[in-house]
Amino acid sequence: MMLSDNVFPVCNYPDVVIETGQGSWVTDTQGRHYLDLNSGQFCAVAGHSSPVLRKALMRSLETIQDTHTGMLSAAALQGLKDLGEISGFANPHSILLTTGSEATEFALRYAKHLKEKDGVLALDVGYHGITHGVAGYSMSRARVRPPLPLSFAAPAPLNRDFSNPDSYDYSSELESLREIVEQNSRHIAAFILEPVISGGGMFALPPGYLYEAVKLCRENDIFVIYDECQTGVGRLGDWFSYTGGELPEPDFVVAGKSLGLGIPVSSVTANRDTVDLEKITLGHFSSHQNEGFSGLIVSECVNWIRQDDRLTYIRDAGQDFLRMLQALNHPMVNAPRGKGFMLAFDLTDDEPGGETIALGNRFVEEALKQGLLMQHCNYGRTIRILPNYNTTREEFRDFIQRLEALFNEFE
Ligand SMILES: Cc1ncc(COP(=O)(O)O)c(C=O)c1O
Repeated sequence: MMLSDNVFPVCNYPDVVIETGQGSWVTDTQGRHYLDLNSGQFCAVAGHSSPVLRKALMRSLETIQDTHTGMLSAAALQGLKDLGEISGFANPHSILLTTGSEATEFALRYAKHLKEKDGVLALDVGYHGITHGVAGYSMSRARVRPPLPLSFAAPAPLNRDFSNPDSYDYSSELESLREIVEQNSRHIAAFILEPVISGGGMFALPPGYLYEAVKLCRENDIFVIYDECQTGVGRLGDWFSYTGGELPEPDFVVAGKSLGLGIPVSSVTANRDTVDLEKITLGHFSSHQNEGFSGLIVSECVNWIRQDDRLTYIRDAGQDFLRMLQALNHPMVNAPRGKGFMLAFDLTDDEPGGETIALGNRFVEEALKQGLLMQHCNYGRTIRILPNYNTTREEFRDFIQRLEALFNEFE
């Protein structure tokens, strides 16, 4: 770990310091350029130094940034309206927050409050944030001390036949879920899940499993929360994973990352048709909830994606990107997969562990030398690619060429 430069040592930072960013590229303090395949940390979806974000921030500086938490601004109200529209819910009610962790905490806080139950069900390899509570419902739950009580983990159905999302026989995972729910429904307030498990290996949940899970939860008085911090706001070529009609609607949807275009803005939207908000007696009072700046950024983000028909572009270009990955036909490109601008491949078929971490780290280091900013997940086995929504086919071809040069380093 780097212990210099006053940095709290929480990551293995590389010996590269970024100075500026423009579109899909960032430049380091030595003047070297890197193609950023992950739109920052999957957030800067209009690209770096985006005119869309600049417009929202300038409007915020000229009008309103921060309001008394107990008051609303016109900017926040407009952002909430725009967010409600893209949620696809007939009767949406939302709150704007900052990080994804804050938003998942909020959704669970109110799910527990409304159901008057204290337990949470999640998938064993899910990820919902880094704060104490949601980390206790994520794949790192074992590292939370003391362990959270009433944290239930169901085995995730990990469909490895990526060409056929509903081909997987999820009956054993569904049976485990049923057992947990039936034995503990008096405790479980909510089932929180990522429609595409990201950190746990980039697996889309089989739609059939999700329909059964939502039905089971409804029958057992349990809310379903989709954590769409990664999949939401255009990433899959739709506003959310379910707005194209392929998945059942949840009771709450959480957004983050892309919603803020690179600035910390997140949200929770309740589906008022299934969530009785009249029952709320619990207040929530945090410094940056429903801020003017958040509302302005959300509105600009939604307007930009809409006016530009970005969703269609993400769907079409995403398919082309996937085809380019598939055409690589290299032993280090296993199971290329994904939808829209959320793509991945496995470096190896080996089980995730110490060796895959070493391989993933080396891959990312070599990528940096080739001018590529890349990230691994799933203990180094899987490479995630979540580019900004303006990434061009030309830039993706450039990436493929650099990837080929990178593979030569492993020969
Ligand atoms: C699915 C999901 N949920 C929640 C979070 C937490 O968001 P944040 O890091 O903004 O707190 C993340 C972050 O990676 C995420 O991918």
